[in-house]
Amino acid sequence: MKGAMLVGGFGTRLRPLTVTTPKPMLPLVNMPFLEIELLHLKEYGVDEVVLSTGYLPEVFDEYFGDGSSLGMKLVHVTEDEPLGTCGAIKNVERHLGDEPVIVCNGDILTDLDIGALVQYHKDKGAVVTITLTPVEDPTAYGLVPLDDDGRIKEFVEKPSWDQVVTNLINAGTYVLDPKVLKDVPPGVNYSFERQLFPDLLRQGEALYGFPSDCYWLDLGTPEKYLSAHHDILDGQVRVPLAGADRGDRVFLGEGVLIDETAHVYGPLLAGDGVRIGAGARVGDRTCLGSGVSIESGARVEGSVVLDEAVIGEHCVVEQSIIGRGTRLGPDVHVADCSVLGDNIEAGGENEFLKGIRIWPSTIIEAGKVRFYRTGD
Ligand code: GDD
Ligand code: MG
Repeated sequence: MKGAMLVGGFGTRLRPLTVTTPKPMLPLVNMPFLEIELLHLKEYGVDEVVLSTGYLPEVFDEYFGDGSSLGMKLVHVTEDEPLGTCGAIKNVERHLGDEPVIVCNGDILTDLDIGALVQYHKDKGAVVTITLTPVEDPTAYGLVPLDDDGRIKEFVEKPSWDQVVTNLINAGTYVLDPKVLKDVPPGVNYSFERQLFPDLLRQGEALYGFPSDCYWLDLGTPEKYLSAHHDILDGQVRVPLAGADRGDRVFLGEGVLIDETAHVYGPLLAGDGVRIGAGARVGDRTCLGSGVSIESGARVEGSVVLDEAVIGEHCVVEQSIIGRGTRLGPDVHVADCSVLGDNIEAGGENEFLKGIRIWPSTIIEAGKVRFYRTGD
């Protein structure tokens, strides 16, 4: 079966991480998120996938090429201008063939049973079947109410609370009969959620919803990016971890050096060549990329530290994200879902708290960033 993946967005809510890396290529448990998504599709026989790129397209091409390293066939199609969700798929129509295809938003972590979705689509005789997931706050998503037979009644994209009539939202994975693209104007910005799907409903076409209680997360924000790591490391969603299992959910890559006085505890994933110094404390759902160095006396918990970053002596990094190649001097404190972009040099005793975000390659002298606390 063929698939198409929407990976052209700018990932603005994930800046500064997405300044240098497009959202689907951000590492998730030390491999590009998109690789996890593609392998999930492949598991269900979807092994020919068109990547609809826009922002930083070369990053996808350099890593995946024609897909042969994954045992898949990948075609890259890059837009000059963002064409919107439907416009982007119209733009790759020539690669899709005549049979139903799987279309995916490129920012969803899920263990959806795609086989069951495709079967449901066939059983219903649908032209489009949309996977739905329950969420507590539907206002950030597309609301999709159904009738008793599972047929879609309407689409309310990014509803206000007074429009919320169900907790089921568009989960961003569709089965689509390519014939529905026939009348979509080529080369213009066009939306599935706001244009094509409501139009098809008005024309009386059979659009069905496939509610699923599988694992589902939209990786749009730093909070969600951290949560995705926590959930995988906790074992809530099945994603293969690259590392030997040392028990208690501690997964270590090759050549990891841990000082015997360090306290390392699970869930934890440490990539190849990670070094953890004397007296350091690392764990509680932390993911360390390859070549990361945690120096002596540092504490890193609930955090993601990307490749080659250096966490200086006695630093504390809690529930936060440290970019590739970023170097922290001694006694730096990072907490509260703060995000440091790639290749930052921060001298000792800085504080990065309360969700602060620092642009890539910034150089910060020792002790420059402080947070006021009541009573100080
Ligand atoms: N090629 C291309 N061109 N891709 C795009 C474009 C575009 O112009 N615009 C967005 N994308 C890609 C993004 O990279 C992302 O992978 C996907 O399409 C969805 O875009 P988002 O910007 O993340 O949309 P959203 O999260 O606000 O809303 C969508 O997803 C929700 C589920 O997460 C909608 O489909 C909602 O209805 C849905 O509930
Ligand atoms: Mg999204």
